[in-house]
Amino acid sequence: MKTGKDILEQFPKISLSLLPTPLHKLKNISAELSRNIYCKRDDLTGFGFGGNKTRKLDFLIADALKRKANTIVAVGAVQSNFCRIAAAAGRTLGFDVHLVLGGIKPEKPTGNLLLNNLFGAKIYFVNSNDWNVWENKAKKLMKELTLKGRKVYWLPVGGSTHIGVLGYVNAFFEILEDCKQLGVIINTIIHATSSGGTQAGLIIGKRLTRWQGKIIGMGVAKTKKQLSKEVFELVHETGKLLWESITSGHVFIDKKDVIVNNSYMGSAYGERTSACESAIKFFAEKEGIVLDHVYTGKAAAGLIDYAKQKIFKPKENILFIHTGGNVEMFE
Ligand SMILES: Cc1ncc(COP(=O)(O)O)c(C=O)c1O
Repeated sequence: MKTGKDILEQFPKISLSLLPTPLHKLKNISAELSRNIYCKRDDLTGFGFGGNKTRKLDFLIADALKRKANTIVAVGAVQSNFCRIAAAAGRTLGFDVHLVLGGIKPEKPTGNLLLNNLFGAKIYFVNSNDWNVWENKAKKLMKELTLKGRKVYWLPVGGSTHIGVLGYVNAFFEILEDCKQLGVIINTIIHATSSGGTQAGLIIGKRLTRWQGKIIGMGVAKTKKQLSKEVFELVHETGKLLWESITSGHVFIDKKDVIVNNSYMGSAYGERTSACESAIKFFAEKEGIVLDHVYTGKAAAGLIDYAKQKIFKPKENILFIHTGGNVEMFE
């Protein structure tokens, strides 16, 4: 019988991420909240300043190499963490990297923009908040580059394709292995979700291993309905790819596995909220862990609220995945 790890081995992968990342108990936060809280430190994946996106790019860049592409077009918000890591990954492996970024070009590049320049990406700004407008501009650029004879590999927002999702299937296996080493059974996983790839990968990992816990994505962009639909589609699409190799195409995914809560998002993506500011301060002061205002701070605000509202049971073990993004502190 094939294991989850065997199944992933059929897909090409490079090792940008420094794995495994640490998983440890947040002792002070656990004591303050009277709940058992652990943290998976995917802020420490290392490559290009780290974060969840290095795991997706381990598979995506390997796929681009397999397809003999020489140019990458990636799309994201003006301070996209994904585009920063895509720039580093693409450039170090010899690709030309073009980033289409939604937002206004600032006078002085800071945070991820500063790093994009350092890694040597070509940047195009699109003055819009609409993800579809960014993607249309990027697709036009792809056509132009293709006409010039470049072999282009396309990276949509967040790298959330069925290939990118494999990075978090792999992360799920790693988490179970970490827990085995620590002698802990995790009951609930909490993390920030926006383009849905991280959550989709974890859910597939849950299905493949028959883990019984809950995965809660704290939504930081889009409506709950839209994001749940997108996560489900990604699970389905990636699941098909994996399931076919083990069970001759039989796919079983339970819609109930997709849990999105966007109560901690505020009114818009990137909008600062006071609960997020407090969560950032709490993690910094209690654990020396730096979160960000767009993703992890909002997910942590949800985690803290669940603990305070006693939604978590006293004996439950909760895992917070720190998905990175803290370069944002230097914007
Ligand atoms: C720091 C950080 N956390 C979480 C996420 C959400 O991951 P996903 O897009 O896979 O839902 C992102 C996406 O950009 C991110 O940059």
